[in-house]
Amino acid sequence: MIVALNNKCNLTKEEFLNYQKELASLQTVVEMILCPSFLNIPLYTLTNISLGAQNVSSDTIGAHTGEVSASQLESFKVKYCIVGHSERRQNQHENNQEINKKIHNLYEAKIIPILCVGETLKERENNNYKQIITEELIEATKNLTEEEKQSLIVAYEPIWSIGTGLIPSNKEIMEVLSLIKEILPNSKILYGGSANDDNIDTLKQCSLIDGYLLGGLSLKPANLQNFLKKMTN
Ligand code: PGA
Repeated sequence: MIVALNNKCNLTKEEFLNYQKELASLQTVVEMILCPSFLNIPLYTLTNISLGAQNVSSDTIGAHTGEVSASQLESFKVKYCIVGHSERRQNQHENNQEINKKIHNLYEAKIIPILCVGETLKERENNNYKQIITEELIEATKNLTEEEKQSLIVAYEPIWSIGTGLIPSNKEIMEVLSLIKEILPNSKILYGGSANDDNIDTLKQCSLIDGYLLGGLSLKPANLQNFLKKMTN
């Protein structure tokens, strides 16, 4: 099982240093990945949690003001990177082609992508969510080798569930996870969207879930410890 922590645009330098001390004492057998904001990456000192990033440039190193390349992330020992998070798809208008480029750049730098897919509430209500998720998966993984597809981590994050406290039923989650498995049979699949220490007992009954991508909960180490404990009980 994997738990990836998405700090999003949170934690100043001092806050991150204190936070990291709390994470260092987490007790768990679960494989953990911490995705801080870019500025906090050089401050990472943990030995119990792997290092991830939240985004990467679709360009390679060179004249791209404000971008961070996969090779730069590699030089800071980043092992994983979130791509295609819905907040970036919505706010920065990232599309599947751009996400595909990012994934290729990450593999070039030996960094494992955590590809986020998921539908809006409208897409669920219009019943075209399966088509949207299928497109997201197929276009983002274009021209990857079989080996790359196998190591890719997919995070199913219903957009209506992120930060809202709403979670899909286990039946709804299993339906989408089965679809992901049909397209990428060997990829690990995380669930993300308001997962917390109250709903983990229900979520963990979904047999296809290989782990979780946590936003809000990543910032609350005590609740996170409780989540990890319940997850493996
Ligand atoms: P949340 O965020 O856990 O706060 O809903 C998850 C995510 O956006 O990755």
